[in-house]
Amino acid sequence: MSLAFLTPTRPDESVFGAVHLGYLVVESQRLTSWHRFAADAIGLHVDELSADALRFRLDDHACRFLVRRGPAEDLMAIGWQVDDHETFDRIVRRVVDRGVPVAEGTPDEAALRGVERLWRFAGPKGIVQELYTAPVPAAQPLRMLSSGWVTGESGLGHVALTSRDPLGIHRFYDTVLDSRLSDYIDENVGGMPLKIRFLRVNERHHSVAVAHVPGLRADPVRTRAQHVNIQSASLDDMLATYQRVRELGFRMAWSVGQHTNDRELSFYCVTPSGFELEVGWNPIVLTPELEQSWQVLTHQGISTWGHRPVDPGLLDRLGQIRQAALNARRPEITVPGLSTPAGAPR
Ligand SMILES: [Fe+2]
Repeated sequence: MSLAFLTPTRPDESVFGAVHLGYLVVESQRLTSWHRFAADAIGLHVDELSADALRFRLDDHACRFLVRRGPAEDLMAIGWQVDDHETFDRIVRRVVDRGVPVAEGTPDEAALRGVERLWRFAGPKGIVQELYTAPVPAAQPLRMLSSGWVTGESGLGHVALTSRDPLGIHRFYDTVLDSRLSDYIDENVGGMPLKIRFLRVNERHHSVAVAHVPGLRADPVRTRAQHVNIQSASLDDMLATYQRVRELGFRMAWSVGQHTNDRELSFYCVTPSGFELEVGWNPIVLTPELEQSWQVLTHQGISTWGHRPVDPGLLDRLGQIRQAALNARRPEITVPGLSTPAGAPR
């Protein structure tokens, strides 16, 4: 691939703070259910682009979620918004220099996502990583039940993955986006130790979380993402959303509770594609002052209170055991070129 499009840049200069979780791409056959879930339960602005594509808005960006028709029922891609062209080139250069192919999105793909300058490359667990510079502002005013969502510098929210290669994912985001480790949580689930690491790329406490069970070869989660998170502007909004999810009969996974590390108040419901959506409020923001003095701690337990399982079904648990057995035979998708320390054999 020609690198002539890249402006002169110093690839090792940090891009921390100049990258923000922009949008998520989901593939699903259940578009009717996704429409109702997003608009009527969560309270998002929904645009029906065609019979095969829905777009959700939380703010003035035309696209924060793209749900396109397809069989996967999963999160397919993460879109990262990059502040300027130089930073964009720097990230692309890092990926290319490590031998990982980068491809330019078509004008149609960029239009579907409501962005300019779309490029993509492979990511952990098969989640495609997309980069763009500028969102195209939406032409229409927001129509949604919620009064607002916190995005801006903090980005859309976060993505939480389960992995058998947490260090590989950590190194991937370290290499590509200069992620910083915010903290760890140690938890015990059904007698098994669970370790979660939280990575930030800007003022949001974490844009990516990676959970794994040390020593376990299996991954109990079918989907590439265990959950994705968005942040309500107010506590009233968050609780009204909780109420609507219950009233409309969508599945609730975990009741309202508060996390130990970022102190976010939240609940988890199940999206029509099976992965969970966490709706949160008021997490710690790493202001420049806090960033200076931040220390990486290991917190004991995911929550200080709440986050109790809601209607846990026997079938769910049996399904998870079956899924774990299936996944144990399938290697996890990794991107070795971007997941090994610089200079190490790949
Ligand atoms: Fe979360």
